[in-house]
Amino acid sequence: MESSPVTLTIDGQTIQANPNTTILEAAQQVGIEIPTICYHEHCTANALCRICVVEVSNARALVPACIANVQEGVVVQTHSARVQRARRTILEMLHSSVDLSEAPEILAMAKNYNADPQRFPDAQRREPPVIDDNPMYIRDYAKCILCWRCVQVCAEDAQYTYAINFSGRGYETQISTFFHHAMPETTCVFCGQCVGVCPTGALKPKREWLLEQGHNPETIMQLTRSERRGKKRRANLTV
Ligand code: SF4
Ligand code: FES
Repeated sequence: MESSPVTLTIDGQTIQANPNTTILEAAQQVGIEIPTICYHEHCTANALCRICVVEVSNARALVPACIANVQEGVVVQTHSARVQRARRTILEMLHSSVDLSEAPEILAMAKNYNADPQRFPDAQRREPPVIDDNPMYIRDYAKCILCWRCVQVCAEDAQYTYAINFSGRGYETQISTFFHHAMPETTCVFCGQCVGVCPTGALKPKREWLLEQGHNPETIMQLTRSERRGKKRRANLTV
């Protein structure tokens, strides 16, 4: 049985929405844009980045719009001063700890919210070395914002491969393979879906990366082709 719609107000507009609708979706339906980072329309929302927070009249704390459903009679403010301050701080914290140089959407957001990239000058940046352990893609976790999209598409949201997950705690948290094995030694099938959903360039096709490193296309073809042959040969030897 279909549940009856609820009525709520978003930024002064009274709207009706199905109770299973999130605030993010309800806002989109009436043309109100709420910024998102970790959210991806084809992934399960996990509310990790908190950039989508909004003020809801019956909640004391700010509410992540990507997972909170609409409720009868509430008043939602998506761009109040409090909301803007929270988003600005999140963006400043990201700036202080991660290389965002290849995350144009986040950089545009930071500009919109007047985020000061130098707000936390003493913050320790995360700068692990690039992991180049397979012929298909590299992992540059200095650019990783831990949005978890790659883990989700590798698991139940798409591929059911489970090659990667979180490792470490607190500041040491990083996306990794189990026991930090090289990617070819894991269950990874190199489908490329993780690279496709990464919003920051932390995961990048190997050929694109080699091109950036100054290699010419012919060398790149040779490098990636010979590596793949090498992998095939190794696989045949172990059968
Ligand atoms: S590697 Fe990319 S997709 Fe994966 S958690 Fe980091 S930023 Fe997100
Ligand atoms: S987009 Fe909602 S918490 Fe990241």
